[in-house]
Amino acid sequence: MDLKFHVQTYGCQMNKHDSERVYGMLESMGAESVDSIEDADVVVFMTCCVREAADTRLFGQVASMKNLPVRTGSPLDQRLVAVGGCIGQRDGEKLFDDLPNLNVVFGTQNLSSLPALLMDAYGQGGKRAEVLEASSEFSSELPTDREHSWAAWLPITVGCDNFCTYCIVPHVRGRERSRSIEDIVKEAEGYVASGVREITLLGQNVNSYGRDLYGEPRFAEVLEAVAATGIERLRFATSHPKDLTDEVIALFGKLPCLMPYLHLPAQSGSNDVLKRMNRKYTVEHYRQLIDKVRAVRPDIALSTDIIVGFPGETAEDFEATFDLVSSVGYSQVFTFIYSKREGTPAAKWDDETPRSVIQERFDRLVEAVQKSAFDANQVDLGAEVEVLVEGTSKRDDSVLVGKSPKNQTVHAPIPEGICASDLIGNMVTVRVDEARTWYLRGTVTEVSEAVR
Ligand code: 5AD
Ligand code: SF4
Repeated sequence: MDLKFHVQTYGCQMNKHDSERVYGMLESMGAESVDSIEDADVVVFMTCCVREAADTRLFGQVASMKNLPVRTGSPLDQRLVAVGGCIGQRDGEKLFDDLPNLNVVFGTQNLSSLPALLMDAYGQGGKRAEVLEASSEFSSELPTDREHSWAAWLPITVGCDNFCTYCIVPHVRGRERSRSIEDIVKEAEGYVASGVREITLLGQNVNSYGRDLYGEPRFAEVLEAVAATGIERLRFATSHPKDLTDEVIALFGKLPCLMPYLHLPAQSGSNDVLKRMNRKYTVEHYRQLIDKVRAVRPDIALSTDIIVGFPGETAEDFEATFDLVSSVGYSQVFTFIYSKREGTPAAKWDDETPRSVIQERFDRLVEAVQKSAFDANQVDLGAEVEVLVEGTSKRDDSVLVGKSPKNQTVHAPIPEGICASDLIGNMVTVRVDEARTWYLRGTVTEVSEAVR
């Protein structure tokens, strides 16, 4: 059967990884992925409910497909629409009431049921939903079709035990479950053997890895064990500051493959707000961590997440956040306006702050973020950086685009006589001639042996 499918992914890297499994499963059924909804017989939305904007977008997208005709040549007489991920987990069958053209709902624990749910829904001309409670096991046996052959996301934990008061994630992804170190290493070894150059270890809070299995966090051990597989580049996301240990920090100075980039979400610079967010650290502790990390790896690039407009955030609280963001020297800051999520403790807290004041704070912060990112990039002017090539520029296909060890985006004209497709997934050395806010531009000075 000539079945075509399309997957749209919202949200975090964990969702992107789950989507890779959806690709893997549907392809192993013989279906083929296509780039647009119009050309697809099956459309799968992998959803996020961390903030309201993603919710609204999903509902709009699905509703707008109602009158879209079935593609010419489709083996099905209707287009099947499935919603999975965090909104699927949160809303379950309720989604059918709001979205009449929806056929399948699946939760974060039900990825493997998707093919069966689709077939049932089609066969019975009806609707199918399956949303399991978070299981105690870590399912890692599904086929995966990775977005890039040279890079892999490797989940080491799923779920989260932290219950930050604004956050819906623990409610939809369940308690934290860790995979065994053996399982993780086996997967990493498989990647190295198949030519993967970069592994990103994933978890809502990788630092507490192992607490459920071994009674204590053993993330440092995971890093050492994965580094020992011979992987060229190793990264991880995300870290909770309260669980970042000295052992993990020390590894930034010890493991050459561990890239000099750390994403350490602060959320706020005010101790009062941090307390009400249930973050369990102070801004002083956070700054100490940054100092320790820099003592081990002075050139490390740092990024963070900040929420503006948390209920009860005062002008002073915001100034403290502004001060943190302006003084740390972050290379990137992901800024979010607080979004009320039903079911979380903070949703019950009133906030008198006018929306316009929150927007003003947000805009001021964004300016500080841009300045910080620009300043952080200046350090690399004239330097030679190793770039893992990801593709070519959307605007100019004679320019390669890749990532530096510090996770900066780097652009450079492709040297003459070299084919772009040979470069993708390989390393080049780039001398940085220009340092902008969001990217570096330079000249290729060396190309890895694999390309020559
Ligand atoms: N409102 C705004 N931002 C949020 N985040 C999580 N929950 C919310 C919310 N309710 C942000 C946090 C987190 C990032 C992934 O999303 O900063 O680190
Ligand atoms: Fe949400 Fe906090 Fe868990 Fe991160 S650590 S997923 S912000 S509850």
